[in-house]
Amino acid sequence: MKSIQVEPAGTLRGKIIPPGDKSISHRAAFLGALSSEGISVSNYSTGADCASTLLCLEQVGYGVFREGDRVTVNKGGDPSKTAGILDAGNSGTTARLLCGFLAGIPGRFSVITGDESLQKRPMARVVSPLRTMGARIDGCEGGSYLPLSIRGTRLAGGAFTLTVASAQVKTALILAGLNAQGSVSVVEPLQTRDHTEIMLDHLGVPVRCEAGAVTVYPCSDLPGGSWRVPGDFSSAAFWIVAATIVEGSELVLEGVGANPTRTGLLSHLQKMGANLEWGPQNLAGGEKQADLKVQSTSLKPVVVGEKDIPAMVDELPVLAVAATQATGVSRIEGARELRFKETDRIRAMTEGLKRLGAKIVERDDGWEIEGPVRLHGGTVDGCGDHRIAMALSIAALVADGPVTVEGSGCVEISYPSFYEDLKTVTACGAAS
Ligand code: S3P
Repeated sequence: MKSIQVEPAGTLRGKIIPPGDKSISHRAAFLGALSSEGISVSNYSTGADCASTLLCLEQVGYGVFREGDRVTVNKGGDPSKTAGILDAGNSGTTARLLCGFLAGIPGRFSVITGDESLQKRPMARVVSPLRTMGARIDGCEGGSYLPLSIRGTRLAGGAFTLTVASAQVKTALILAGLNAQGSVSVVEPLQTRDHTEIMLDHLGVPVRCEAGAVTVYPCSDLPGGSWRVPGDFSSAAFWIVAATIVEGSELVLEGVGANPTRTGLLSHLQKMGANLEWGPQNLAGGEKQADLKVQSTSLKPVVVGEKDIPAMVDELPVLAVAATQATGVSRIEGARELRFKETDRIRAMTEGLKRLGAKIVERDDGWEIEGPVRLHGGTVDGCGDHRIAMALSIAALVADGPVTVEGSGCVEISYPSFYEDLKTVTACGAAS
């Protein structure tokens, strides 16, 4: 198992161009596979998760073309191709979106599996509404876990009120709806990331977002399109926190996705007193993006509640790191979903930060964290989860000695160049 030693940082300086957004890249690939003309995007995520989506789509016979950082996916290829077992790897988005995508293709039989972590993640949330549309899906524990087998069939439309706020479930149902015989509408308990809706609208495909419901209609062939994927806000989040808590730092993050359904971390950091400044915004594929300047500052504590979670669900581990440096007690509540991610993120961050001396109490649905604490060096476990490994690496920057992050190789899931970028901004800081 790969591990890395992260040294305490003097200051962080310079600029970072975060990798292409993971959620948007997955969606460009799936929607491209519903289009004869195809969708072609540059700055496609370099992470292993989005590569898993491409491999699965290729395996079931869709046209997938890679050229530099550009990826093009279309309906072409050989859709009658018999696929072997589809391996979603570590990617929940790949597995869940594939379910919605494949369930409505008559005559196609598919088996989806994933790595050890993905096999433990809940799939019933996507399987049961799809079954209501007529999907024929079997799997472990009645279809609650991978591997799942899908016998594609013509699906009926449907109206769904979800009990979990999950953009993956919403998107799986939208993908199924585009292929179904009637419209599909989805009401979420809380608004989740709306990249699929934005992309459909950008392509000119009818999508209605009204009174908290998203409705899509059958569409046998989606129009094509071409654009650049914005930088991943969830990857930028590590640098936003790093530059905030490492004294004397200033970082510019270039071309970051600024979709408000993703940027909840910023409003909370701002309440904590963070020094953040967006540059002028522009649109890419219908998505807002801009440069973001971050300067270090001292922080007040924060309270995060259930309604705040969807817009910052992937950023909570690194927000916990920020809370260790804030003066006072921070409370993060209503985040039980974190227990169902690549690892149990509530447990993983509690254990990791405790090892570095943080005052953190694990709650069933989040944490209570008291700061500021001067963290110390030590060894922590990335738990095979990219966001845990990166969040703990950021914590290491404000420790008083080196921190060894075990299992650091998992950063390749969303941000393969994370440690190279870290080297660049610490080197700039040292030189200045
Ligand atoms: C994602 C949605 C979120 C997020 C995941 C990506 C997406 O998961 O945690 O990293 O691309 O739709 P849930 O929908 O399960 O909350």
